[in-house]
Amino acid sequence: MEETFAKVADAISEYWEAHERPVFDPAVPHVALHHPTFGAEEITAFTRQMLSTQVTMGREVERFEEEFCQRLGYGHGVSNNSGSSANLLMMSAVTTPLFEARLMPGDEVILPALTWSTSLWPIIQRGLKPVFVDSDPVTMNMDPAAVEAAIGAKTRAVLAVPVYGNPCDMDAISAICRDKGLLLLEDCCESLGARYKGRPVGSDGLISTFSFYFSHHMTTLEGGICLAGDPEIADIMRILRAHGWTRQVKDREKWERAAPTYDPRFIFVGEGYNMRLTEPQAVMGQIQLKKLEGFVEARQRLARKLIAGLSGWMDILQPQKTTDGGEHSWFGMPILLNANAPITRDDLCAQLNAAGVETRPVIAGNLVRHPGTRQFDHRVADKLTGADAVMDRGFAIPCHQSLSDEAVDYMLEQFSRILGQQKGRLS
Ligand SMILES: Cc1ncc(COP(=O)(O)O)c(C=O)c1O
Repeated sequence: MEETFAKVADAISEYWEAHERPVFDPAVPHVALHHPTFGAEEITAFTRQMLSTQVTMGREVERFEEEFCQRLGYGHGVSNNSGSSANLLMMSAVTTPLFEARLMPGDEVILPALTWSTSLWPIIQRGLKPVFVDSDPVTMNMDPAAVEAAIGAKTRAVLAVPVYGNPCDMDAISAICRDKGLLLLEDCCESLGARYKGRPVGSDGLISTFSFYFSHHMTTLEGGICLAGDPEIADIMRILRAHGWTRQVKDREKWERAAPTYDPRFIFVGEGYNMRLTEPQAVMGQIQLKKLEGFVEARQRLARKLIAGLSGWMDILQPQKTTDGGEHSWFGMPILLNANAPITRDDLCAQLNAAGVETRPVIAGNLVRHPGTRQFDHRVADKLTGADAVMDRGFAIPCHQSLSDEAVDYMLEQFSRILGQQKGRLS
């Protein structure tokens, strides 16, 4: 068996090496926003797990959750099938009857206007009312003063979202939540590997979430995880993750006591979904975890190089500024053009794209301006000028683990060429 599998593993490696494309080829310059974090090692482990036929959530998923928490310094991890599912699981955990201090329909949750759609939808899906606050266009994160000003009689929770790997000002946000008796939740789906004052992002909230989507800091193809310091909340999320079932909870006895006459293998103690990660994904995740630190360090090094290279253009643009006390993990490099820049964002991006440098909006800008948001009851707490600035003048360029110095130099040359021409035209 092992001998036969060794041939499979060799064939995968051989195929991978033969088909691996260079990340950057100066002859045909193209700098992509993302590059896969996985290779032959992950594909081999995934295949081996498939061949074992042990594919649905089991020992490997549990091991992945344990290793994730151990390596990164979190309490309890409940993996699931996407960052969006992780957010739905988190919002479900704080609204389900199993959670004593649960939020009730119509209760308000404050979140930044500059965030991904599935930070928002789970709030609405669980009957809560979103309250949008502005973001600082310099750090691109929610402004604690705006959070405080937005609190109303029905406000019960704050959802902090570190944007693109930049930690939020968690000391200020935590203090507001403590003083006002609000639940603090964290959507860290873009920010794995980031730290704030020495602690990993997502350590401050009752629950925090991460995504393992293909383009993120590490991947399980699709996937996500919810983290909680409190084991009881983690168990509530395990129940919600799979059918309202007790099968995966850590404290099974507690739940089995509630239904002593039932077959203990099949007890439903609450509402539930099916959001399980699979075993092949979990073995892939275990390998990715070992590489994560290196991936994040590579992103940080390249970000330093990009920032230094762009520093001569600060009269025209500003890369996202790292929050004081934060260690950024650079999901990409968001940039804001100054209001008086001699070139429009669209023109600059079109020229970068024509030179083979991919760009994209910073998340998707101000979520309140998207048609989907208008369909649902929400409150806008202030003017959202920061989120609008990022939507109108912001863009992101590649900054990922596989970029070479050569690719970064090429991007910087393109900025110099385009912005230099622009300046030349003005002078
Ligand atoms: C802030 C934020 N929340 C949630 C998600 C959703 O994660 P996923 O794509 O794994 O569903 C993303 C996706 O990138 C995100 O950026």
